[in-house]
Amino acid sequence: MKKEITAVFRERFGAEPYLFSAPGRVNLIGEHTDYNEGFVLPASVDKAIHFAIKPNSTGLFRFYAIDLDESFETSIEKIEPSKSHWANYLMGVIAQFVKNGKNIPGFDCAFGGDVPLGAGMSSSAAIEVGMAYALNHIFSFSFSKFELVKFAQMAEHEYAGVKCGIMDQFASMHGKANHVIKLDCRSLEYQYFPLDTTNHLLVLVNTGVKHSLATSEYNKRRQECEHGVALLKKYVPTIHSLRDVSLDLIESHKSEFNPITYNRCSYVIEENIRLEKACKALENADFVEFGNLMYGSHYGLKNKYEVSCTELDQLVELTKSIDGVLGARMMGGGFGGCTINLVKKDSVASFEKTITENYKTPEGKQPQIIKVVIEDGAKGGN
Ligand code: GLA
Repeated sequence: MKKEITAVFRERFGAEPYLFSAPGRVNLIGEHTDYNEGFVLPASVDKAIHFAIKPNSTGLFRFYAIDLDESFETSIEKIEPSKSHWANYLMGVIAQFVKNGKNIPGFDCAFGGDVPLGAGMSSSAAIEVGMAYALNHIFSFSFSKFELVKFAQMAEHEYAGVKCGIMDQFASMHGKANHVIKLDCRSLEYQYFPLDTTNHLLVLVNTGVKHSLATSEYNKRRQECEHGVALLKKYVPTIHSLRDVSLDLIESHKSEFNPITYNRCSYVIEENIRLEKACKALENADFVEFGNLMYGSHYGLKNKYEVSCTELDQLVELTKSIDGVLGARMMGGGFGGCTINLVKKDSVASFEKTITENYKTPEGKQPQIIKVVIEDGAKGGN
């Protein structure tokens, strides 16, 4: 990829670029908990967006999206959302540097990679984090990794219109090979847990249904959780988010909730409990327990949070008939994208066979199956 992207850059912009990359992510458990100040358990993977970049002296930002064969350019004076969907992720990041007092001179950038788009693997976070990391480096700013993560998240809020939590951008920046990250989305403290892949593998299956988180559903879930918090705050004023709400407390006020809000909120509380149990299971190398918690997460997302879809449910149900599958669930924002499956290593072949024989994407094709390799987070520029 390094060679290819350098060649593309040379040809298009006639210069020697600096190279950077930022990976996509998986999340083992803890879905839709990040914006509720809960816990998540993501990891960065070996699918990444690569950037070739170099300052120019044209007073322009010039971008080339290799995989789409599309370009976008604009004056450095004109930092605003545009009609180009993908350029917004990049311009959104530039805007954060400017807001934080930096001038960004013109530069050229070619980027592309192998994070499947709209598959729940956070291709957009990889683009944002890669851009933030690269600009910090080539213009010798000294923002911390954490500040860059926030820039990337704000780009998504302000230029893509998705009020996402911090998980995706955090994982793309802070990921560590062979480890998952237990992130407390309130304090932002984090801990790495080694993921022993001697006998088990994480395998993704892409439904082939592209989700669009920017559709109102994601932001709507966030609001529904806020409604629940507002209701309970009347009784316990110190409550700031669902993180502060116990199952007992929500149960004791159940009759005051509309059933949808109750379901959304109780799902989030239960998912945080599942995640704590899952971390204990990892420490004890209890993959059976871990897998059961993954199924529990899926049914919560399906029945209570209502962010699954027929294809995701179908893929999860299929795993029930395959020996050696310990857990399966939808991953990411939902409404399409991938399932994540915990599979015994010696059952992976039969897993692939059963899935490909019994599931077809909406276009009638075989689904993409991805064996997860956990790699380091954003890097480059050296
Ligand atoms: C998307 C968002 C994340 C998180 C997940 C659901 O990936 O970007 O912040 O909320 O959905 O867990």
